Amino acid sequence: MEKLFERCTELSDGEEFVFSDGRTDSGIMLIGEAPGENEVKLKKPFVGKAGKNLDEFISILGIEREDIYITNAVKIRPHKLSLKTGKRINRSPSKAEVDRFRELVVEEIKMVTPKIIVTLGNTPLKQLLQREVRIGDMHGTLMELELGGRIYSLFPLYHPASIIYNRDLRQIYIDDLARLREIIHRLGI
Ligand code: URA
Repeated sequence: MEKLFERCTELSDGEEFVFSDGRTDSGIMLIGEAPGENEVKLKKPFVGKAGKNLDEFISILGIEREDIYITNAVKIRPHKLSLKTGKRINRSPSKAEVDRFRELVVEEIKMVTPKIIVTLGNTPLKQLLQREVRIGDMHGTLMELELGGRIYSLFPLYHPASIIYNRDLRQIYIDDLARLREIIHRLGI
């Protein structure tokens, strides 16, 4: 873990970063997109608005947040400067940023060896599969992911933030969570 933290520091190249949170021996690993302002301030993933939705989702699964390993595909905060205020505003991570942190995310997976990996939104899914995929086509489907000779279960979900912006997704998200809850039970997590 310490080694991975050191590697994260190197890859962040002087930028503020957020590493991970939760149990490294967890059966379930959640991978989000990238930290935002609040996460960087508190040095913890998913503590802002998206974090509130995530907490709700975790409670639907009937597990405790502390029992999950939570990380992000990109560990720095992708941002640009607002022309109006001059302040930092979030932007989507670039392909270069997603590629830069891939090796670290793969090392995290190998360290945690979760029974199931749950990706949130497009970014971590593309990062792991290394191809152009759309969450709209793959959400709620249990897949297999091969990494370093080992097969992992992968379950893509929409990003919790997308529910904030698109209320129509809410029922789809709840249905996906019901499926995930069943899988978690089956895996004995
Ligand atoms: N969104 C993410 O994907 N990750 C965070 O840590 C916070 C918001």
